[in-house]
Amino acid sequence: MQPVPTLKILSCLSLSLLLAACGNQQADPDSPEGQRQAVFQQFLQHSEPMGGMLAGRLAFDGEAFAGHAEQLAGLADAPWKHFSEPDQNNPQPNAALPEVWSDADGFAERIGQYQTAVTDLNLIAAKGVDSPEQVASAMQAVQQACKACHDGYRR
Ligand code: HEC
Repeated sequence: MQPVPTLKILSCLSLSLLLAACGNQQADPDSPEGQRQAVFQQFLQHSEPMGGMLAGRLAFDGEAFAGHAEQLAGLADAPWKHFSEPDQNNPQPNAALPEVWSDADGFAERIGQYQTAVTDLNLIAAKGVDSPEQVASAMQAVQQACKACHDGYRR
């Protein structure tokens, strides 16, 4: 594995996730979209520091990294129950594409890939992380799973 390109990809992915997160209006926190968006914000709160450590934007701290990996894995089931089929009259701001419901199998597959990736990352990190190289490819798989789902199912 070549470390430099990996790190470049990681920092670009983190940046695009950040930018995407900035564009949204505020949904009612009790609505399904408000609840799932809140969980996705937590995804970001844990994945950003890990991505930042691997991209060299933050000092690498193996213990902190493992803590974030554990938290992220603990959230891996949380957003999906808040994707109830939208009401046609529902004016709430949200960024989910209609494909979430019209291609439910594809969406479920993306969820499965994401859950596998975060579980793998957590298993590796929980053994103790001394260097970025130990977790770089597992973290890249997580960030690619975020992006793969966003590419097909998020505006
Ligand atoms: C299986 C699909 C899927 C996966 C995996 C996924 N997301 Fe998302 N994400 C979505 C969808 C769909 C939305 C739009 C939700 C809405 O607006 O109702 C979204 C929205 C977001 C938002 C915006 C939340 C807001 O405040 O509006 C952020 C930030 C985000 N995701 C980060 C992440 C990160 C980071 C990961 C990986 C660690 C991730 N997502 C993994 C589907 C996914």
